[in-house]
Amino acid sequence: MNGFPLCFAACRIWRASWKFRSIYESLIAYPNLLMRFAIFSDLHANLEATEAVLADARERECTHFVCLGDVVGYNANPHECVEIVRKMDCPVVKGNHDEQASLAESSRGFNALAEAAINWTREHLTEEDKEWLRQMRMSRQVRDFTIVHATLDSPDQWAYVFNNLDAAASFTYQHTTVCFFGHTHVPGAFVRDEGVKRVKVDQLMIEESKKYFINVGSVGQPRDGDWRAAYCIYHIDKNVVEQRRIKYDLATTQKKIIQAGLPRLLAERLELGR
Ligand SMILES: [Fe+2]
Repeated sequence: MNGFPLCFAACRIWRASWKFRSIYESLIAYPNLLMRFAIFSDLHANLEATEAVLADARERECTHFVCLGDVVGYNANPHECVEIVRKMDCPVVKGNHDEQASLAESSRGFNALAEAAINWTREHLTEEDKEWLRQMRMSRQVRDFTIVHATLDSPDQWAYVFNNLDAAASFTYQHTTVCFFGHTHVPGAFVRDEGVKRVKVDQLMIEESKKYFINVGSVGQPRDGDWRAAYCIYHIDKNVVEQRRIKYDLATTQKKIIQAGLPRLLAERLELGR
């Protein structure tokens, strides 16, 4: 019996099945390729900035939303911002202002400005709002990335990551290629390769061989000298993280802060991005 035709047929079947497999894998991967995450943090009860960021994210065709905490504190619309994020039903992690606002009284020392705002915030949240803030998790994994408000090494201690050494401590506990965080209100990224270095986000290409600890900046109270609301878009299809800065109705936010009887300095610092 001539084995050649049999071998030839087997080869054809193997090639056809391989082709079918790659089409099947593409179809499985397709929904992932369509995922585009808007990742935002530190809204701090700034309704105008929150609405502007969400409008931009929808315009940019973001399909998924992730909130890194500090929904409340400092500005004058805590209940409205809680309602917006709660209704979005997206992954959220707890910030230090979320924690303090959900308690009957402060358990740790804020500076005088933040303390005045958190006392005011408690009085302007419903019990349902506080319960929602209370049940937030400290960190979690979303798809194949991690989210946390402050640090991965001690998320409930609310330490700040400003330099490479701070970032190195978090990298020790980071098991995904990418982790997004907030808390400092200063956008930027730390990359761990041979060592740890700080880079700008702008359009950051993610390489699987490295690790990235990315601060998305603050929606409601940026502190990097730029008053515009900050957030990031994670383009899953391109493996790129993009930093966005969005103008919003700053004058209305400032007017609300003053009318609410919150410290005037909270209104003034917004236009300075400090
Ligand atoms: Fe914050």
